Amino acid sequence: FCRRLAADAGRLAHSAFGSAALLPAKGRHDEVTAMDREVERFVREAITRAFPGDAVLGEEDGASADVASAEFLWIIDPIDGTANYARGIAHYCVSIGVLHNQVPAIGVLHDPSHDRLYWAARGQGAWLDENGATRRLAVSPIASLDGATVECGWSLRRPQADYIALFDRMLGAGCAVRRAGSGALGLADVAAGRTEAYAELHINSWDCAAGLLLVAEAGGRINDFFAGGGLLQGNPIVATNAALAEPLAALAGIPLLSTPQEMKR
Ligand code: IPD
Ligand code: CA
Repeated sequence: FCRRLAADAGRLAHSAFGSAALLPAKGRHDEVTAMDREVERFVREAITRAFPGDAVLGEEDGASADVASAEFLWIIDPIDGTANYARGIAHYCVSIGVLHNQVPAIGVLHDPSHDRLYWAARGQGAWLDENGATRRLAVSPIASLDGATVECGWSLRRPQADYIALFDRMLGAGCAVRRAGSGALGLADVAAGRTEAYAELHINSWDCAAGLLLVAEAGGRINDFFAGGGLLQGNPIVATNAALAEPLAALAGIPLLSTPQEMKR
């Protein structure tokens, strides 16, 4: 259900790619298009029809009343990478994560520009459907910081000096640093072994609920994102390959969990 829903939602978003109507921004460098709203409505309605007892949290329409108590919680980002989407840059996705009893259980991302469907279920691995084939994802084996590429997300939610210090530490350690504008796809890149880490000083749960499980199920390491109110207020994030987990987390200044099962909100 979740895979089909994410793919349908991604196709809906892509139908307006290149002609998306920008609405008044939510904040400086925090844009929203009419399609962000439409996709979230589409996903919420489908979930509510199929699973009326479940709670939902989405980037655009917020949390349902039972968000803290429901057995199943769906966490939706209708378009992650909205700034890319609104500028005609083909790097954005739909993200749907499900927590079961507060622990990540399912994560699905659809990247409609490349028709890539990433999906993970707790204990069942991380997978990618692309070009009619399904393959299992695994994090990169790179074990030297000199060979590492790290995506560092950025927003105005934390001071500029703190981001510059983070980039400086990563560059100083020999890593290549990039920022492509979708935290969710940044996590998918780690799960697929294309980059060695994703780090950001603050990210929201809808950006990363699905991607964190992808990385964990692809054999990577993640931080305790949902601790201390991360679900509703966001938190720092680090997600890494296994070989460089300790040095990259130390450079990010964010401690790692040893297993995703520990990750409770
Ligand atoms: C943003 C993107 C960005 C990340 C920000 C997010 P949006 O989400 O994921 O890469 O650095 O923290 O807010 O606005 O594109 O949905
Ligand atoms: Ca987002």
